[in-house]
Amino acid sequence: MNRVDGKIAIVTGGARGLGAASAKRLALAGASVMLTDQREELGNNTVEAIKEAGGEACFMAQDVKDEAQWQAVVQATVERFGGVDILLNNAGIGTGGRIDKMELKDWQHLMAVNMEGVFLGMKHCIPALRQRANKWEGGGAIINISSIMGFIGDVGSTAYCASKGGVRLATKAAALECAKLGFNIRVNSIHPGYMETEGLQSALRVMAGGGGDEARESARQSMIKATPIGRLGKPDDIARGVLFLASDDAAFITGTELVIDGGVLAQ
Ligand SMILES: NC(=O)c1ccc[n+]([C@@H]2O[C@H](COP(=O)([O-])OP(=O)(O)OC[C@H]3O[C@@H](n4cnc5c(N)ncnc54)[C@H](O)[C@@H]3O)[C@@H](O)[C@H]2O)c1
Repeated sequence: MNRVDGKIAIVTGGARGLGAASAKRLALAGASVMLTDQREELGNNTVEAIKEAGGEACFMAQDVKDEAQWQAVVQATVERFGGVDILLNNAGIGTGGRIDKMELKDWQHLMAVNMEGVFLGMKHCIPALRQRANKWEGGGAIINISSIMGFIGDVGSTAYCASKGGVRLATKAAALECAKLGFNIRVNSIHPGYMETEGLQSALRVMAGGGGDEARESARQSMIKATPIGRLGKPDDIARGVLFLASDDAAFITGTELVIDGGVLAQ
């Protein structure tokens, strides 16, 4: 169950957090993983940890908003491992701010990473995914990391919510395109709730309104309180969902939203 033996995956933002956990799960379930990130040292360390655990992975520096770097990553993956079967568009940033205080350049930067990065990833991986899609019962798989904030709004998060809502619907449109054009590629989104990662710290800072440790801890407690299961999510909670959608167990699943949030959106 949930195996990806022989498949080749590209994981963006894989140096830490949800991307690192997902890359590890995929590698230990049999995939060869091209792990990319802007953070080179951390990315290389994560790859070493995956290798020590018995998985196959390599690291390449990448800024997901740079088109030429996407071309280079796909080419390097094909040269190193022989193709691409799984794309996990995970890299994302959560900086935000009130609409009336946010600079246009900050809005544009967030959109470039969270939305254009996903677009460029799909654009440049689809041709490679098509090459090998018929090898697998479940075809090729693209998984885009959105958020519960792709469904609901929050104070100080207009840009983030807009980007994640965009990823959610771009996923559905891409899923239909890939299905109806006969590409044999499934495209799905995952919507994490409040997950314990470094990335969560920026959300806590926004919620704490610039306050110190105490304000951040109280914001953290309010996230736990908003989560019916009663804890923050662990990166591996998302990695398990990634592995499922990447595997042939999800062969008939495309254009769907997998919410992994401890019950937040059920309320
Ligand atoms: N942590 C949460 O609570 C949560 C909730 C919902 C959605 N998400 C989403 O999950 C994804 C991962 O989040 P995380 O919490 O693991 O974040 P994180 O900040 O811990 O890790 C994100 C990684 O992406 C990399 N990255 C950022 N910008 C990049 C760029 N331009 N090019 C390449 N790499 C880049 C970072 O260097 C980092 O290693 C993001 O898309 C985030 O929006 C997170």
